[in-house]
Amino acid sequence: MKIIAISGSRNPEGKTGMAVEAFCKGVEVKKAQIEKVFLAEKNIERCRQCNASGWGICRTEGRCTIEDDFFSIVDKIRQADGVLFATPVYFSDISESMKAFLDRMRRITRNENGLIGISEKPAIGICVAGGGGGGSVMCCFFLERIISGCTFTVIDMIPCRRQNLALKQKILSITGEWFVEQILTGDYKK
Ligand SMILES: Cc1cc2nc3c(=O)[nH]c(=O)nc-3n(C[C@H](O)[C@H](O)[C@H](O)COP(=O)(O)O)c2cc1C
Repeated sequence: MKIIAISGSRNPEGKTGMAVEAFCKGVEVKKAQIEKVFLAEKNIERCRQCNASGWGICRTEGRCTIEDDFFSIVDKIRQADGVLFATPVYFSDISESMKAFLDRMRRITRNENGLIGISEKPAIGICVAGGGGGGSVMCCFFLERIISGCTFTVIDMIPCRRQNLALKQKILSITGEWFVEQILTGDYKK
């Protein structure tokens, strides 16, 4: 079993990184493999809104015209059994690297070719507000909206804030174990 963790943080050792690590610990307890991808290190352009209509081959072919790191990450998602999306909270919203990635992902998943290996794949979202601590719930709302729009089956959204991160790390470790169990048993489909 393979889980992919997509992080929209700039700092693998920051608070989002700590949350991701806690989740990974749980996944590894259940002997599943986990691969981490740090979007901020990747070359992911923003959508070019190719045509005058605002669409492009995303709509007609389920792929994107831009040749950057986007497709290699989509491929990793397609190969995985489950996906974690983790983002720091910026302005009560997802980070820019996560936004650039998911903006393009939601376009290709409007076409049946783009949906291959994505549709109904179980996903979990984590949003970490490491500043004042506000905005994590709003960020979860935005993240859930965009990943469910991509047709992932969202089975949990976890808001974290600076003040409760130690508690949430414990919860995230248990959640990592639970995620693997859910995928193995298929219970989340019930
Ligand atoms: C542009 C920007 C906007 C931010 N907005 C918020 C916010 O709305 N709420 C909050 O608690 N922290 C906010 N922060 C702080 C980040 O959530 C915090 O630095 C977080 O720990 C970053 O994640 P990292 O530790 O993974 O790098 C913001 C930081 C930046 C750079």
